[in-house]
Amino acid sequence: MKILVVGAGGREHALAWKIAQSPQATEVFVAPGNGGTALAPNLHNINAKSAQQCLEFALQEGIDFTVVGPEAPLAAGIVDLFRANGLAIFGPKQAAAQLESSKTFAKEFMQRHHIPTAAYAVFNDAQQAHDYVRQQGVPIVIKADGLAAGKGVIVAETLEQADQAIDDMLGGFFGQAGAKVVIEEFLTGEEASFIVMADGKHVLPLASSQDHKRQLDHDQGPNTGGMGAYSPAPIVSEVLHRRIMQEVIEPTMQGMLKDGIEYTGFLYAGLMIGEGNDQERPIKVLEFNARMGDPETQPIMMRLQSDFVALLQAAQEQRLDQIQAQWDPRPAIGVVMAAYNYPVEPRTGDSITGLPEDQADCVVFHAGTALANKAANSQLLTSGGRVLCVTALGQDLEAARDRAYATVQAIHFEGAQYRSDIAWRALKQA
Ligand code: AMP
Ligand code: GLY
Repeated sequence: MKILVVGAGGREHALAWKIAQSPQATEVFVAPGNGGTALAPNLHNINAKSAQQCLEFALQEGIDFTVVGPEAPLAAGIVDLFRANGLAIFGPKQAAAQLESSKTFAKEFMQRHHIPTAAYAVFNDAQQAHDYVRQQGVPIVIKADGLAAGKGVIVAETLEQADQAIDDMLGGFFGQAGAKVVIEEFLTGEEASFIVMADGKHVLPLASSQDHKRQLDHDQGPNTGGMGAYSPAPIVSEVLHRRIMQEVIEPTMQGMLKDGIEYTGFLYAGLMIGEGNDQERPIKVLEFNARMGDPETQPIMMRLQSDFVALLQAAQEQRLDQIQAQWDPRPAIGVVMAAYNYPVEPRTGDSITGLPEDQADCVVFHAGTALANKAANSQLLTSGGRVLCVTALGQDLEAARDRAYATVQAIHFEGAQYRSDIAWRALKQA
């Protein structure tokens, strides 16, 4: 099979890396890919950026199956476009991807189908929003309605911060994505990422994971796309797993069907799990993503032992209920190395050195990297905010962490920043 992976990040490098291990994959293309996928001997980068360009390539090359990584092409309708042209593709259609692309859509959907989530109100008028935060008090959470690359959420500790966030968003800082704001009750607890594959009728849960959204150690600093992740998430016990399926995933699938929208593709529920014993502690949805997480995908793919292409085929044939995914029992940790001045305005063009060869238990997935030219000995340069995700497996979490950090320390680029405490929460429990 010829397989196309759409996207350019660490998530797509990890998806393509895993797909290329399948005996069924004859050729694997990444559109547009990054420096890491360019260097991988079994992956081919394609200079296609828009959904239309991907379609043209897929038709011309005779691609058998396409997997979409990021949210933007899903929200732009790439799945609708491919299917209209008779091509097999794994992802939600545009209408289904609204679970991520519009927070208002997601909140109304959850309310309609009794899926637990934080109380909220929606505003497009700044004065009314300011009045509302005064009624509710702080801390309070301000979210841009549309896609904002993981940066459209402000947890405001003071009224001034809340007012500023409202004014920035409604004032056009995120363009159309901020034309409306969702103001949400502040929830406390522990976060977990619960990702499933959906075929419209059935779901196959993937291994649990947790990520670190804040830029700095001790979960300080601004929210980012994610500075590191690990799998499994110790908090997701068997009891919680069952409850998440019953209270969140199944009602979401049924709700979509009731609303006349078939959900296919990855579905990521970002959860806040409150205090209490596992039978009773509250589980609330912070957000839905219509895709896999980045960087959660990197440790999840490291742990996946099943043939990923077989899972994708089962989804295509609507038989995810008949298949199981096998997981390496060892935990995996991914540490993101980000560019100087990420997440504000990351500098690009810094030279990357010290990259080791991939090992069975440690792989460096690339995100914002590019080759300076196409020559074999070409210089690898930073080209985006999150540059690399160093991902390692270990006998236990500590061993995985030590393996990942030993590799991080061998890699160099000017201004590199990374958190030194990835997986601290899980290590505390271990
Ligand atoms: P989101 O993109 O909606 O998941 O928000 C990004 C991050 O903001 C989450 O991972 C949480 O850390 C935080 N956050 C979002 N909503 C809330 C909430 N209602 N209460 C507390 N923290 C939140
Ligand atoms: N790591 C969080 C996300 O992918 O949205």
